[in-house]
Amino acid sequence: MTLRKLHGTSALIIAVYACVHIANHLVGLGGIEAHIAFMRAARLVYRFPGLEVLLLSAIAFQIYSGLTLVIRGWKQRQGFIPWLQAGAGAYLVFFFFIHVSAVLLGRTVLHLDTNFYFAAAGFHVPPFQFFFAPYYFLGVLGLFTHLGCALYWRLQARSRPARILAVALPSSVGFVVSLLIVLSLAGAFYPVQVPPEYKATYGWHP
Ligand code: HEM
Repeated sequence: MTLRKLHGTSALIIAVYACVHIANHLVGLGGIEAHIAFMRAARLVYRFPGLEVLLLSAIAFQIYSGLTLVIRGWKQRQGFIPWLQAGAGAYLVFFFFIHVSAVLLGRTVLHLDTNFYFAAAGFHVPPFQFFFAPYYFLGVLGLFTHLGCALYWRLQARSRPARILAVALPSSVGFVVSLLIVLSLAGAFYPVQVPPEYKATYGWHP
């Protein structure tokens, strides 16, 4: 199997988790309690030791393989879709590395429950919102766009407009989903009172 095929296989594992994870954040549009209740139930599955090791190994492999593919194809890459795919992929390498390291550190070193408040804290301690808003927004948008580009290559036999739609549609959905999640974390839909222990990780004190 080539590295590219393995990258696609590992992406399937991550995509299954991403569906649950993004659904979790969308449930959060209905309130913090709903977000936390959904996560508590979903954790029974994705934190099951064997499955979590599989997921985290897939993420580690995706970072390695994604970076290798971006660098390896640098000189040959031509055209908008190949560069969009590589750009979104390169951002996902950065995002996965920071995001998963932060979650694991939060749990093991800071002994925090990495729930809604963990994700929202950065939005409520200035000036960290200027990092977290684009960081999360591009993470979700990058995922949808990157998957749309993968679909584009799978539809070689289809017309050009159908293939463009295969990228444009997921990217547009990703844009809206991303915006909604970021706005809910920032407190645009309901008041968000982040407990002090979460804000303290950003140097905040009462
Ligand atoms: C706005 C966007 C996002 C936010 C706010 C967010 C937030 C979180 C939070 C709070 C956790 C901890 C979950 C728990 O303790 O059970 C987490 C874990 C994780 N997230 Fe995200 N996430 C976002 C986007 C993504 C995306 C696009 C991916 C790509 C698949 C992703 C992958 C992961 C992974 C792999 C974990 C670790 C799961 C585990 O082993 O516990 N996240 N995220």
